[in-house]
Amino acid sequence: MSVNDGGSDFVSRLNEIAASTEQLLDRLLGHDPMPAERARPKRLIESMRYATLGGGKRFRPFLVVESATLFSVPRERSLMAGAALECVHCYSLVHDDLPAMDNDDLRRGRPTAHRKFDEATAILAGDSLLTFAFDLLARTETHPDPAIRIALVLALARASGLGGMAGGQMLDLAAEGRFAEVAPRLGLAEVEELQAMKTGALLRFGCLAGAILGEAKDAERQALDRFGAIIGEAFQIADDLLDVEGDPETVGKATGKDADAHKATTVSILGVERAKQKLFGLIAEAETTLAPFGARAGVLKAAARFVAERRA
Ligand code: IPE
Ligand code: IPE
Ligand code: MG
Ligand code: MG
Ligand code: MG
Repeated sequence: MSVNDGGSDFVSRLNEIAASTEQLLDRLLGHDPMPAERARPKRLIESMRYATLGGGKRFRPFLVVESATLFSVPRERSLMAGAALECVHCYSLVHDDLPAMDNDDLRRGRPTAHRKFDEATAILAGDSLLTFAFDLLARTETHPDPAIRIALVLALARASGLGGMAGGQMLDLAAEGRFAEVAPRLGLAEVEELQAMKTGALLRFGCLAGAILGEAKDAERQALDRFGAIIGEAFQIADDLLDVEGDPETVGKATGKDADAHKATTVSILGVERAKQKLFGLIAEAETTLAPFGARAGVLKAAARFVAERRA
């Protein structure tokens, strides 16, 4: 994989941001209650830590930090926003894996949260991670200006809820035919919309958060928003390809499940080869949207290529 671009070393930047995110989440999700909290029930905090620590690529925090770096945002702030986004992402994985949803036993190479603990604990861990994300965004460490914090809160709320991740998950399950006698047959545009919501919205927020923290001008903010939307779409196509062609050892979760569940994916509609063509077309488009940033965006361009070429 050629991820070295213009002197920027994507792999080392991703690893470095992943390590800083791990450290920050470990501290924020400590066992001791914060002054304003009565208690942190042991089983709940343990399950939240299990769901967030010790795994994952941390690609969403990477997007926040690297987009923010374009505007010289202090690292502590972008790491806080990245940690908030990772909390929403981890919650989405915990709930996605529940028996009522995708019913998976393996995540990040380990038992899923409801397997390690139990379903009720996994549901509550998800709920608490979702709300914890907004707790983090509302803190002054994320940004001293309350208007910026509110803009982040609003954007993450929109990306996570009805018109974003949760809405997309609803469409994903509906497309399996769970709620109707006959499964609806989605066209490509409908699958694109479903995927833009269930997966794209959170990745897109990652890029937008950098622009919000950096108080970017409209044109730069729009460019990052567009970049996020494109790699968001690409990310789920790559995930769907890994479900068909990936190695479960490497991806750390079961593969070959989407077809069995009658999931509506780009791959189920276009087939593997045309889905790959679409994926690489999106990566080229993503790189083009970064033109306004010139060489400064080298690491984000490399990130776009990583999305298409990743094996996990
Ligand atoms: C998996 O996301 C779920 C999707 C939205 C496709 P990731 O592939 O980013 O999972 P982790 O965080 O690295 O485990
Ligand atoms: C996940 O899509 C989207 C989420 C919002 C969690 P998948 O169901 O394909 O993700 P994996 O394959 O279980 O990680
Ligand atoms: Mg799913
Ligand atoms: Mg799943
Ligand atoms: Mg998948």
